[in-house]
Amino acid sequence: MAFDPEIRDALIEQVRRFVRERCVPIEARVADDDAIPAEIITEMKQLGLFGLAVPEDFGGLGLDMETECLVGFELGWTSPAFRSAAGTNIGIGSQALVLFGTDAQKTEWLPKIATGEVVTSFALTEPEAGSDAGSVKTKAAPDGDGYILNGTKRFITNANIADLFTVMARTDPDTPGGKGLSAFIVRRDTPGVSVGPPEKKMGQQGAQICDVMFDNVRIGGDMRIGGEGEGFKVAMSVLDKGRLHISSVCAGMAERLVSEMVNYAMEREQFGKPIMQHQLIQALIADSQAEAYASRCMILDAARKRDAGEKVTMLASCCKMFASEAVGRIADRAVQVFGGAGYVSDYGIERFYRDARIFRLYEGTTQIQQIVIARELSRAAKRGEI
Ligand code: CAA
Repeated sequence: MAFDPEIRDALIEQVRRFVRERCVPIEARVADDDAIPAEIITEMKQLGLFGLAVPEDFGGLGLDMETECLVGFELGWTSPAFRSAAGTNIGIGSQALVLFGTDAQKTEWLPKIATGEVVTSFALTEPEAGSDAGSVKTKAAPDGDGYILNGTKRFITNANIADLFTVMARTDPDTPGGKGLSAFIVRRDTPGVSVGPPEKKMGQQGAQICDVMFDNVRIGGDMRIGGEGEGFKVAMSVLDKGRLHISSVCAGMAERLVSEMVNYAMEREQFGKPIMQHQLIQALIADSQAEAYASRCMILDAARKRDAGEKVTMLASCCKMFASEAVGRIADRAVQVFGGAGYVSDYGIERFYRDARIFRLYEGTTQIQQIVIARELSRAAKRGEI
């Protein structure tokens, strides 16, 4: 269902003001402290950002995908760590519950996820399972009316602050690959759950990733999301949506970097004139603008198709691949346009350059997106559709 245009415009305007007036001025401080100030998190909760993608019936804003992406463009305008604070609640942490949860699971958890009272994380990746998502080794062994979980998850975003994990685990040890997996929600305070220290990362300071360990963790059968053996499907459906959301954040960052480049190039003079008048600088900026615009357009197209009920697995992968690769190129050009200043931390450009790098890795590497796109095209050809 399309979102009311007036409410949508007001929301976008509110988020834009929050991002530009409250987040942008403290980007360097957040990176230095490796933390988002508590008052900013409170404001994010008041704006409803944690509940963007939670249905209204469960206390969220219930945005359609198009509006969620419009918000994503705004959030992408600042350091991605701000978005990340609410990112797992908006996307991969909550969507298994939204898409596949029972009424009882939704009623218990979604209202608290929507307000940010409960932070969620998505625990799929393991030391030996990343791109090959079907090779998860964490076990959920049936035990009475529930399961016993054992295993380790790796690089889990927001694990240090999470209250609830969506966990992919193998319920059928005899079935290799995705078909032996099931999805669960696991409370952080369940005995046997522990979280490792935050990793030191290349960028996105202010957002943390950690290992999560499950040591004989007993959970009830009512914590399973979807049927036994449906975990892979749950994970892939969550990622289809997550990839579109991440793409919108990439596009927002791309637009910010274009703005930074233009404003700098209009002021900075070399050879007796602003560098914006040098054609080689113009080329760097023009290429960046075209790619930022292309990202925005394709993301909105895919989002609208998802809202119309179309399966957008391939389109989400196209968006994730293009927008994340594009923002990587644009961040690189921004360093080039800024010259020496682009390499110095005071200007913030080198920070965006480092922050952007993860976009080509998480929620499926570029190479995984290529595989998904080619796979979907082959299937369409077999069905005689192309
Ligand atoms: N939606 C619903 N179901 C799907 C699906 C989708 N998008 N994609 C696949 N499936 C189903 C298929 O229909 C199939 O079911 P059937 O056998 O019943 O038909 C089943 O899942 C297996 O599908 P495939 O054979 O196509 O799967 P595959 O094993 O060949 O490979 C893959 C799939 C694309 C490589 C997949 O493993 C993948 O996407 N890997 C990347 C995982 C990933 O993104 N990891 C990042 C971790 S999350 C993260 O980054 C966390 C963070 O903190 C930010």
